[in-house]
Amino acid sequence: MAVVELEGLVKDYGDVRAIHGVDLRIEDGEFCVFVGPSGCGKSTLLRMIAGLEEISGGELRIEGERVNEQRASERGLAMVFQTYALYPHMTVRQNLAFGLENIKTPKAEIERRVGEAARMLQIEDYLERRPKQLSGGQRQRVAIGRAVVREPSVFLFDEPLSNLDAELRVTMRGEIAGLHRRLGNTMIYVTHDQIEAMTMADKIVVLRAGVIEQAGTPLELYNMPRNEFVAGFIGSPRMNFVDAVIDSTAGDFVTVRDASGNRHKTAVDAHGLSEGEEVRLGIRPDHIVVDSEGSGLSVTVGSVEQLGGESYIYCEAAEGTFLTVHLDGQTKIRRGDEARVVFRPEFTHLFRKSDGLAQRRLVVGEAV
Ligand SMILES: Nc1ncnc2c1ncn2[C@@H]1O[C@H](COP(=O)(O)OP(=O)(O)OP(=O)(O)O)[C@@H](O)[C@H]1O
Ligand SMILES: [Mg+2]
Repeated sequence: MAVVELEGLVKDYGDVRAIHGVDLRIEDGEFCVFVGPSGCGKSTLLRMIAGLEEISGGELRIEGERVNEQRASERGLAMVFQTYALYPHMTVRQNLAFGLENIKTPKAEIERRVGEAARMLQIEDYLERRPKQLSGGQRQRVAIGRAVVREPSVFLFDEPLSNLDAELRVTMRGEIAGLHRRLGNTMIYVTHDQIEAMTMADKIVVLRAGVIEQAGTPLELYNMPRNEFVAGFIGSPRMNFVDAVIDSTAGDFVTVRDASGNRHKTAVDAHGLSEGEEVRLGIRPDHIVVDSEGSGLSVTVGSVEQLGGESYIYCEAAEGTFLTVHLDGQTKIRRGDEARVVFRPEFTHLFRKSDGLAQRRLVVGEAV
C-alpha cells in the first residue's frame, strides 16, 4: 500500500509562498498527474513529496505515516527528472547498478533487478554502452530504469518526456503507461502536455499559483470544469469563451445575449443568476456547428487548417471574439468566407464573470 496524503501543505521560499496549503489524497496504485501553467508549483510540490524540498507547513503522509522529517532516501520513492543526468563515464549497466551499490545491496540482488529492469524497458542490448552511444529515448529509458531498480513504492516523474521529439514522446508515453500497468505502483507525474495528462492519468490535479483549482478524472475535468480557468486549461484546442449577459432564466435553458445581440441557449442550472448579469459562455471547438444559411452568430473565417481526416476553422465574430471550430473530415470553407455558427446548447458551459465559477450543467453530453 502506498497512499500519499497531503494535508495543508505549505512551501515558503523566504517570504514568498509558493504552495498555499494543498490538500490531496493519492490512492494506492493511482496514476496522478499534476498540470498547470509554468511557475504554478508542480515541481515544488513533487520535490516536497520526494524529500528534496523542506516542507514549511502541513503534513505529508505515506502509507498513513508522517514523513515530513524523513530524508528522501527513507521515503521509498524514486524520481525521474526531465534532464536525465546519467553518469557519462559509466555503462548503462553501471548507471543502473550504482544507486543500489551505494546502499550495499547484495551483488546477486543487484544483478536480478538490473536484468529485470533492462528486460522491461528493452535496453538489454545496450547494457555495455555508455550514455553518449544511446538515442534520447534510450537514455530516458535508462533514467527510468534507475528508478525501477530501486523498487520504490511511489514513482515521481517531473516532465520526463519534454526533451524528446514528438514521435518518441508518443512511444515513451505508451511505455510509461505500460510500466504502470505491470508494476501497479502509485505514480505522480508532472507534465505540460494535455495529451499526456488526458491519456495517462487516473486523476488530474490542476494547479494555479500554488493552489489546487480542481482534481478529478480526466473526463470529470473536461465535462465539468469548476471554473473558467480549468475549462480553459483542460482540452486541446482550448475552449472558446464569449462575453455575454443573462437574457432570461425561464424554462429548461438559460438564454444569454452576446455583444452582437445574438441569443444562445445554454443547458445550465439558473440558480443564482440574474437577468442582465455579465457572464462568459464557454463552448469547445467540437461543439460548434457551422450553418452558412441559418441563423446564429455571423463570423469571418480567418484561416483554415485541413488535416485530411479533420479540419479546424479559426474565425472572428463581429465584436472581436475569436472562435476555433473543429469539423470532422474536409471542408469547402475558405479564408475570408462569411459563415454563421451555432453553439450546441447541451454542450455549452456558463461562468459567472464575478468569480469565474461554473454554473452546474444540466446535461452532461458525454458519458462520465
Ligand atoms: N529555490 C527557489 N527559491 C525561490 N523561489 C522558488 C524556488 N524554486 C521555485 N521557486 C518559485 O516557486 C514557484 C513554483 O515553482 P515550480 O518550479 O514549482 O513551478 P512549476 O509549476 O514546476 O513550473 P514549470 O512548469 O515552469 O516547471 C515559482 O514562482 C518559482 O519561481
Ligand atoms: Mg517544473
